[in-house]
Amino acid sequence: MLRLLVVFIHFLLLASANVEKTIFVAPPAVTLPQDAAIDNLLLEPLHPERLSVRTFFNASFPTDDKPHGDESWALLEGLSPRQRHELRICWLATQPTAFQIDTFTMAEAFETAELIISLTTYSYARHAQLSAAEIDALKANRFKTPGGSDRSSVLFLRVQAAADYFSLNKTLMENVPPVHVDLILDPYLFNVFPISLLPTAGYIIVVAVSAWFISVVVYQLMAAYIQRNEPSGAPEVEDKKTQ
Ligand SMILES: *[C@@H]1O[C@H](CO)[C@@H](O)[C@H](O)[C@H]1NC(C)=O
Ligand SMILES: *[C@@H]1O[C@H](CO)[C@@H](O)[C@H](O)[C@H]1NC(C)=O
Repeated sequence: MLRLLVVFIHFLLLASANVEKTIFVAPPAVTLPQDAAIDNLLLEPLHPERLSVRTFFNASFPTDDKPHGDESWALLEGLSPRQRHELRICWLATQPTAFQIDTFTMAEAFETAELIISLTTYSYARHAQLSAAEIDALKANRFKTPGGSDRSSVLFLRVQAAADYFSLNKTLMENVPPVHVDLILDPYLFNVFPISLLPTAGYIIVVAVSAWFISVVVYQLMAAYIQRNEPSGAPEVEDKKTQ
């Protein structure tokens, strides 16, 4: 039992080493720009119909200019205003990386010089990197607002990825390979509980309830067994005491 617990704790630590998350409350819906401005940024979109995305982000060793490594961006859209959400980023233990994730409203992203520069730099690099087919696929993956409304609760997600390893391999120290990541958007139920944890919670409740009933049965069996086998137990103890 103890050994099981140790193994469990080990995996818990292992898992937490490869997940970084941010919790936020979705902002009020805003009117989106009518031109293709957001489409043209070529950001990976996440929304209620696309809750997880597997992609890769550039990483680099921290420098004075980029103390948290390379910056990448993604788009969170179609959120329910005022609802609490969690955004998780998961990556492989074989690619040790320190991630920092932040969310910005459209106004913050477009009106802060430092953010708009980072966003457009990323977007230019994406235009150079992606094929025409990949660009079409990205645009097709955007959230379709109900009734084609031009209002949506939107956040820009900035991910900073700093390489977090030391290697004797010179290639690996000079060129950090892109990090494969899963981005997971998780709305909270009643603003307290991540929906993706529901199956786990259900499992724990089932285990706890069955453990309760099983323990009652086991207790009754044990009590019956003791009564049957040790009717002479009490006098024996008394005998010893009197000796
Ligand atoms: C990722 O890094 C490669 C190599 O340095 C660069 O060519 C590419 O533009 C970068 N991609 C992004 C999206 O920044
Ligand atoms: C260094 O790492 C690169 C990239 O993973 C690999 O292709 C290369 O074979 C490695 N070199 C040595 C000497 O291990």
